[in-house]
Amino acid sequence: MKVVAVYSTKGGVGKTTTAVNLAWEAAREFRVLLWDLDPQGAATFLLQVKPKVKGGVGALVSGDTKVGDVIRSTSNDALDVIPGDASYRDLDLVFDSAKKSERRVARILEKVADDYDLVILDCPPGASLVAENALFSADAVVVPLVPSPLSMRSLEQVTEFVAASISTAPIVAFLSMVDRRKTMHRDAIENLPRDNKAVTDVVIPATVQVERMGTMRAPIASYAPGAEAAVAFADLWSRVRATVKPKARKRKR
Ligand SMILES: Nc1ncnc2c1ncn2[C@@H]1O[C@H](COP(=O)(O)OP(=O)(O)OP(=O)(O)O)[C@@H](O)[C@H]1O
Ligand SMILES: [Mg+2]
Repeated sequence: MKVVAVYSTKGGVGKTTTAVNLAWEAAREFRVLLWDLDPQGAATFLLQVKPKVKGGVGALVSGDTKVGDVIRSTSNDALDVIPGDASYRDLDLVFDSAKKSERRVARILEKVADDYDLVILDCPPGASLVAENALFSADAVVVPLVPSPLSMRSLEQVTEFVAASISTAPIVAFLSMVDRRKTMHRDAIENLPRDNKAVTDVVIPATVQVERMGTMRAPIASYAPGAEAAVAFADLWSRVRATVKPKARKRKR
């Protein structure tokens, strides 16, 4: 089982949008679990899953709740979700009081290693212990970059954070929410992949079709499969797939 963390120190850059669409693409071929690590529960909402973790995430971390009891299915048979709810607000404190505090997510995931080929972690922004946990278990870190003078800075921050952690996971960065009418965005498309090996040439455009995920409560490929952004997310998945190389086990269901 391989683990992909969708992460940035910056908020609002398209992490959740990416996590949901990558999970959907991956589920065409693999058994996928998306873990919504954000108390806002946006990925949970987008996949139409009830934002409730029985007993709260603290009980899951302590082992009082079994992971199988919090996993929810989605409309896609190959895609399950561990929902995020308000109890995740205290997750940093919960981890902090646990032994080997940066390994708790990995420990929980070990229990479902036979049930899934791929886990996608939708991380909250910031350099928290939650993020450290996600990085520790990750085989790749997917980082959306919104073109701005600060986007390289956020990539540097992520790179430093990964380097300072125990993680050796490669970073797969890409441009998110791109508006080609803007000179700065066009410059970023040209310069960033050239100047930084971690930045792929995948470009996710800023479009209303992506925004509609919030009203459709579905991945873009399910309602606008031909849209530029849907094709770009499929392309991003093929890059991530080539990086982590998941193996499809025989399906149980
Ligand atoms: N390519 C895009 N085009 C248009 N809107 C987008 C695009 N990507 C994301 N958005 C919108 O931008 C907002 C933020 O996106 P998203 O929730 O994916 O970011 P995030 O990095 O997960 O945010 P947070 O840090 O709060 O978790 C959402 O309303 C989303 O619909
Ligand atoms: Mg998010």
